[in-house]
Amino acid sequence: DPALIAAGEAAFKKCAACHKVGEGAKNTVGPALNGIVNATMGQVDGFKYSAPMAEMGAAGGIWDDASLHAFLENPKGFVKGTRMSFAGLKKPEERDAVIAYLSTFGP
Ligand code: HEM
Repeated sequence: DPALIAAGEAAFKKCAACHKVGEGAKNTVGPALNGIVNATMGQVDGFKYSAPMAEMGAAGGIWDDASLHAFLENPKGFVKGTRMSFAGLKKPEERDAVIAYLSTFGP
């Protein structure tokens, strides 16, 4: 849905201080987010994760629609001890839009 993706691109401004996505995106404060939808948690090359996030990935956690909604709504609630200092996106439609936008970027 192009309208949802456009809304997600706009909402991603709340993430862009810490995350890059798209061609040539590098890790900065947070990991680059190319291919993150349906990826294993905590596996971006060269990024140093918090122990809890690395452990969720080692346990096989996947960033699917449900886990992305839970994390983006309340990062510190979903990953206790995460280094992602972000209050969260409280509106479900805003989370849907950001997830749709991120899903347009393959690994
Ligand atoms: C981790 C998305 C905002 C800093 C992550 C991960 C996702 C994500 C999906 C997990 C990556 C992985 O498993 O490889 C988002 C989205 C945001 C947002 C969609 C906006 C809605 C922010 C902001 C900051 C930030 C504003 C900085 C203030 C980080 C850091 C990590 C992370 C440091 C690694 C966390 C850890 O190791 O525990 N983010 N993020 N993020 N993000 Fe964000």
